[in-house]
Amino acid sequence: EKSRIGVTGLAVMGANLARNMARRGFTVAVHNRTTAKTNQFIEDYGHEGAFTGAESLQDFVDALQVPRTIVVMVKAGKPVDAVIDELAPLLDQGDIIVDAGNSHFPDTDRRTAHCAELGLRFMGIGVSGGEEGALNGPSIMPGGDPAAYGEIADVLTAIAANIDGTPCCAHVGPGGAGHYVKMVHNGIEYADIQLIAEAYDLLAHVGGLSAPEIGTIFEQWNTGDLESFLIEITGIVLAKTDERTGGPLVDVITDQAEQKGTGRWTAIDALDLGVPLTGITEAVFARTLSALRDERRAASTTLAGPAPKPATDVDRLVEDVRQALYASKVVAYAQGFAQMRAASQANGWDLDLGAMARIWRGGCIIRAQFLNRITEAYESHPDLDNLLMVPYFTEAVGNAQDAWRRVVVTATEHGVAIPAFSSSLSYYDGYRRERGPANLIQGLRDYFGAHTYHRIDGDGAFHTRWSQDGAEVRTD
Ligand code: 6PG
Repeated sequence: EKSRIGVTGLAVMGANLARNMARRGFTVAVHNRTTAKTNQFIEDYGHEGAFTGAESLQDFVDALQVPRTIVVMVKAGKPVDAVIDELAPLLDQGDIIVDAGNSHFPDTDRRTAHCAELGLRFMGIGVSGGEEGALNGPSIMPGGDPAAYGEIADVLTAIAANIDGTPCCAHVGPGGAGHYVKMVHNGIEYADIQLIAEAYDLLAHVGGLSAPEIGTIFEQWNTGDLESFLIEITGIVLAKTDERTGGPLVDVITDQAEQKGTGRWTAIDALDLGVPLTGITEAVFARTLSALRDERRAASTTLAGPAPKPATDVDRLVEDVRQALYASKVVAYAQGFAQMRAASQANGWDLDLGAMARIWRGGCIIRAQFLNRITEAYESHPDLDNLLMVPYFTEAVGNAQDAWRRVVVTATEHGVAIPAFSSSLSYYDGYRRERGPANLIQGLRDYFGAHTYHRIDGDGAFHTRWSQDGAEVRTD
């Protein structure tokens, strides 16, 4: 009997996806470039379902039902192109290649076009949830030809996480749309993590609390508005004792954050689209700054900070930080969703943003209670410009703003860097201003470059001969 689906690339994500499929009753052919890995997979997990281990790509292709569905789970970048190039000559017209890695969306667009020229169908699907999610139910963001999606939806919806009877998998849009949405998911993941790190920093350095004490606070936070996977695991990570030192494990982990690119791509795309994406972008920069460990060490004994401040009311600080975290998180999601909306318009994707929030409710790294609220917001206002403008979120940030402002002031007075908290608040304050200071920017641009400006009291573009006769001239 031929297999319903094939998975090539049996590192942990590919292996776990294949096992998830088999456990759901699908017949799965598995292949890895190194045959030893395929053999090991069959030895370890063969009993879990109907697997066929293939030594060569030809055997792998021959083991599959036609039209074939092949899931490629290899490192993003050149390895994906290499696998497509090797597979393509062995496939038949109409076969479907599914790239389930964290590919950059322009690559997915390019591969979709390339495969179409070869008569093959290509799908780029975002898969979130790490190893555990891949095995027990990830969030899946499939992009590509809707007809091709229709042919593999049975497998994808069966293996996805499920919340209240709804699978965390829905067709996102054509071409690179699935990988785009996964990219923004990861960007939001960066912002969430940065906000959590800033909260931890404040509670430790202003509140004087230890890692396990802060862990307990996160555990409590996880029972309220902030309830989410990342808040939950923060409690667990902060509570962990290091076996070597007997102290908290986080205290001996180096403070240099690494990154594989998805957050950076999100920020770059926001700049290209002209969308203010301050939370995610600050999170990327914060990781970059953290990586400058030697420079920071030198600066720590050279650059002055504020004079020590008296201890603060810790209970009040904890509650203020909780509220600031929630408000800043709302801003980060509002920005990320505004970016997806802009990308959808620019690319003609027609993204259903409410559905995106729905498929993120389970399985993925940013899964959280409050995503339900985002779905509701887009269900009642499909053309919403900004999530902050629906009553639920307007009220949430409005109620939190006093605490949010106190946190930014306190952190600044104590010399604790809070790029995500403070930039989110600045975005909020900038967004809610009817008239900001960009009039002066325009005046300056016109002075030095005759770049022209518009007037509030009429149409048209104007230039002032600032340094000559000072006269205003109409330029259009
Ligand atoms: C997920 C994660 C996953 C991965 C990130 C980590 O959704 O399951 O986002 O994709 O953990 O890519 O990214 P960095 O290594 O860049 O932090």
